Amino acid sequence: MLLFSGKRRKRMSDFERAAELIKSAKKIAVLTGAGISAESGVPTFRGRGGLWQKYRAEELATPEAFQKDPVLVWKFYDYRRRLISKVEPNKAHRILAEWENSLGNIEIVTQNIDGLHQRAGSKKVVELHGNIWQAICLKENRVFKFKENPIKEFPPKCSECGGLIRPDVVWFGEALDPLILEKAFNLFESADVAIVIGTSSIVYPAAYLPQITKKNGGSTIEINIEETALTPLADFFFKGKASDILSQINNYLS
Ligand code: OAD
Repeated sequence: MLLFSGKRRKRMSDFERAAELIKSAKKIAVLTGAGISAESGVPTFRGRGGLWQKYRAEELATPEAFQKDPVLVWKFYDYRRRLISKVEPNKAHRILAEWENSLGNIEIVTQNIDGLHQRAGSKKVVELHGNIWQAICLKENRVFKFKENPIKEFPPKCSECGGLIRPDVVWFGEALDPLILEKAFNLFESADVAIVIGTSSIVYPAAYLPQITKKNGGSTIEINIEETALTPLADFFFKGKASDILSQINNYLS
C-alpha cells in the first residue's frame, strides 16, 4: 500500500514547465516559419495546400526564373501581396508581440516575408528571407518600400530611375544577407531558450539556428502541428496550432 504523507505535490504540465523555462530565461530567441501565419490564411510552402505543391519553386523563386520571365515571377508575388494585404496577424503573432513587452528579452527571427509579426506589434524582428513589401532597383541596387497593391504594370519599374525592380526576398540558390545572418546567429548563440514555431526545419541556414542554442547548452521548445527534423532535438515538442499552444503557455506566464 502506498502512503502519502504531507501535501500531495501536483505534477507540473509541460505547458507549465515550458512557461517556467521562459520565465527564467535570460535571453529568448524565436524562430518562426510559414506555419505561424497559416491561421491568418497565408498558405505554407510544403504539405497539404502548400504553395510548392501547386507551383514549381524553380519557375517562380530563383534568380534564373526572374531573368527568364520577370512578368511571371512578379505576377506570383503580386498574387501573394494581394493575399497578404487582406489578412490579419493572428493570436500567435499577438502573443509574441505581448511577450516582447512583458518579458523584454525576446527577439524573433522569421523566415516569413509577410510582415505580420511587425503588424502585430513586434519590433525586434529579423527577416531572414526579406520582405514582400520591399523591392530592389536592379539599376541602382537600392532597397525601398514598394507598397503598390495591386501592381498595375508588369514588370513594375523603379519610380526614380525607371529601372527593373525585383522583390526584396531571398530566392532559392541565393545567399542570405551576411549581416542579417550574423545577427541571427549571434541571437541564437547567446539565447538560453529557443522557441521554434511553424517551420518544417528543412531549409538551411534557418534550420540550424535552434541547433546552435542547443549546442551551447540552451533549451529548445518546438511548436508545430506535426513532428519535424528538429523534433528529436527539442526539449519540448508541443503538437498543435501555434495560437493554441502559445495561449496555453501564456496562461502560466501571467
Ligand atoms: P513550410 O511550408 O516548409 O513548413 C510550414 C510548417 O508549419 C510545417 O512544418 C507545418 O506542419 C507547420 N504548420 C502548419 N500550420 C501550422 C499551425 N497552425 N501552427 C503551427 N505549425 C503549423 O514553411 P517554412 O518552414 O517556413 O523560403 O519554409 C522555409 C522556407 O522554405 C520559406 O521561408 C521559403 C520556403 O521555400 C524561400 O522562399 C526562400
